[in-house]
Amino acid sequence: MKNYKRLSVSIAFAMVALLFGCKRTVYQRDNPNSLKEVFKDDFFIGTALNINQINKKDAATDSLISIQFNAITAENIMKAKLIHPTWGQFDFDAADKFVEYGKLKDMYIVGHTLIWHSQLPPFVQAITDADSLRQFMELHIHTIGQRYASSVDSWDVVNEALNEDGSWRESVFYELLGEEYIVEAFRKAAEAAPNAALYYNDYNIEQSQKRAGVIRLIKKLQEAGVRIDGVGIQGHWNINNLQLDAIEESIQEYAKLGVKVAITELDLSVLPNPWDLQGADVNQQFKGGLNMDPYADQLPDSVGRLLADSYEQLFRLFLKHRDKISRVTFWGTNDSQSWLNNWPIVGRTNYPLLFDRNNHPKEAFYRIISIKNNLD
Ligand code: XIL
Repeated sequence: MKNYKRLSVSIAFAMVALLFGCKRTVYQRDNPNSLKEVFKDDFFIGTALNINQINKKDAATDSLISIQFNAITAENIMKAKLIHPTWGQFDFDAADKFVEYGKLKDMYIVGHTLIWHSQLPPFVQAITDADSLRQFMELHIHTIGQRYASSVDSWDVVNEALNEDGSWRESVFYELLGEEYIVEAFRKAAEAAPNAALYYNDYNIEQSQKRAGVIRLIKKLQEAGVRIDGVGIQGHWNINNLQLDAIEESIQEYAKLGVKVAITELDLSVLPNPWDLQGADVNQQFKGGLNMDPYADQLPDSVGRLLADSYEQLFRLFLKHRDKISRVTFWGTNDSQSWLNNWPIVGRTNYPLLFDRNNHPKEAFYRIISIKNNLD
């Protein structure tokens, strides 16, 4: 009898504990398979949107975006060539739709990008004197910055200003205005969009030489008394060459300067790199042979597992430094629309994201989710 009583008390206790346990989980996570839910106390989880996604062409992808992400970046439509095709003539249609999309879904909206040497309209490429270029920068940054001052939460003010050795890239901006152009760009962005977070964005800046260049650049802005809030590490990496130590050191080094770190364009290529190319220079294009496109039919499980391992390691690192990281944005939503199917070789089949060509979560997705679900 005594034993029976003890057993019923234990069962009652176990049931109450179970009930509370379940309630706690339900209370914490409305959807335990949602990235934005799972990481909501850590950092924003973003995706880059192309024009079809902004126009909601595909309902399944649209619903996936709503469930999984709470930040969006314009993949192309805010680049100068598209938004400012001829001097003083702006085309805001797509950009307006983009910010509207983000507002309706209550998302963190990232503008990409104000000053960049690539995807420039021909009229800027044709500028040969400093005054005209200065005028362009002022008009461009003020017009766009002011238009979206109450909707864009963060701007990539300058994109890819440095070479691999940390020296200044010889873009039209540097050639005509010298390194001061960077100070001017941030100063103008702060005037036009006083409430937006202002970021410098670049690839390979986890590598030590280029990182040193970014550190000099940030200090230069700070010494000039101009606001810079963060650094965007693009994060176009490869599963065969993921340099976690360099990434961790960079997050720490940048944070020491008092700026936030965002991973702004994350994707992990699973394909061979021509000439061991690293980085994301959009102007580099190569011709591919058959051996450069080994998974045209499907991704072997073993490679899918390597991708999952890499993503798991990365997210463990990001969580460790969650106090320094503001946002992790994937460069695309599913594998079918990743730019890595066409860069640096056109027409390959790559698998760099967390969702496959049918919008199904891959092993990498569950691995990332389970890190957090197992932590608490
Ligand atoms: C890429 C887009 O994804 C492509 O669609 C486009 O053809 C070229 O640009 N670094 C950046 C992004 O900052 O703007 C680039 O986006 C990828 C590399």
